[in-house]
Amino acid sequence: MQITLTRPDDWHLHLRDGLALQHTVPFTAKQFGRAIVMPNLAPPVTTTEQALAYRQRIMAAIPADTAFQPLMTLYLTNNTTTDEIRHARKSGLVHGVKLYPAGATTNSDAGVTDICHCHAALETMQECGMPLLVHGEVVDAGIDVFDREKYFIERTLIPTAHKFPDLKIVFEHITTKEAADFVLACGENVAATITPQHLLYNRNALFKGGIRPHYYCLPVLKREGHRKALVAAVMSGNKKFFLGTDSAPHAQHKKESACGCAGIFSAPLAIELYTRIFEENNALDKLEAFTSFHGADFYGLPRNSEKITLVKKSWTVPKDFPLGDDRIIPLHAGEEESWMIIK
Ligand code: DOR
Ligand code: ZN
Repeated sequence: MQITLTRPDDWHLHLRDGLALQHTVPFTAKQFGRAIVMPNLAPPVTTTEQALAYRQRIMAAIPADTAFQPLMTLYLTNNTTTDEIRHARKSGLVHGVKLYPAGATTNSDAGVTDICHCHAALETMQECGMPLLVHGEVVDAGIDVFDREKYFIERTLIPTAHKFPDLKIVFEHITTKEAADFVLACGENVAATITPQHLLYNRNALFKGGIRPHYYCLPVLKREGHRKALVAAVMSGNKKFFLGTDSAPHAQHKKESACGCAGIFSAPLAIELYTRIFEENNALDKLEAFTSFHGADFYGLPRNSEKITLVKKSWTVPKDFPLGDDRIIPLHAGEEESWMIIK
C-alpha cells in the first residue's frame, strides 16, 4: 500500500542551535517543506535581527537536495515593543510570536510574567496579522501539573481572545478536551497544533514498567479521555487543527537524569507516525489536509506543490542518533514503525 501527500509542513518545531543544527535540521528537511521554528534558545530569540541570524544558521545546515524553508518566530517578553512586532512582520520571514509563560518549560525564564504586560504588542499583532503562538500552561505551583492547561484557558486564553477578537492565535500542542473545545468555540482566527505523542499516548505511558523519560514532554501527557478528544478533533477533519510535532531534542544524559528535561524527539519519524495514527483511526482520507493544507491556509501561506510518498513497510527506528557531541534518543527508539517514506 502506498500513499502520496502534498509535502507536509511542521507548524511547531525545536531545532536548537550551534552544532546540534547539523543533526536536527536534516530530519525535518527530508520530510517537511517548511517548519515554524521555536525561539526558545538560550538566550531567546527576541528580536527580528536575532531571528534572521538564527535563520541563516539553520539554512547552512539544510541538505543540498531539499528545498526546506525555516519559518522564524520571536519570543515574546514583557518588554517586546510594538516597533519590534512591525519590524518582524515587515521582514516577511518571521511568521509568529511565541508566548511562553515565564517558568513554564525549557528556556522560558525570560517569558511573560503576566499577559497584561503584552497588551500593546498583542494589539499590534492583531492589527498586522501576526499570529500569537501559545504555550498554554499556568505555572502556579498550587495548580496540579495535569490541570495547567485547563487553568490557562480560563485565566489567560479566554480573556485574551475576548480582548483581541481578531488576533490570530495558535494554541500549541494541545493536550486536553478543554483545549479542543475552546478552539472549536472560537472564530476562524483561533487554531491548534497537535503532536503525535498526544494522539498516541495517555499519561500511563510515562510510568509503563518504570519511569520513562523519553515520554516526558510539556504539556505532559494526560488521561485517556483527553487523548480521545484530541483524536476526535483531528479525525473530524476540522481545519482548525493541524500538524505540529513539537519535536524537542535534548541530549540523552539530560533526559535520563534525576531532573530530566521535557521534550520528545520525533523528527526522524514524524510523518510516518501521523500516517499510522490516521490509519489506525480509519481516517487516511483526512491525513493530507491535516499534514499539508490546514496549517498553510491558517498562516496565509501557499500550500506546497511538491509531493511525498509513503509505503506501508516495516522498519526499525534507530536506537539513537548524534546530537552535537552527545547522543539523542528518538521516540520509539529500537521499535518497529509501519510506514516508510520512499520519495
Ligand atoms: O516538552 C517540551 N519541550 N515542551 C516545551 O514546551 C518545550 C520543549 C523544549 O524546548 O524542550
Ligand atoms: Zn515546543
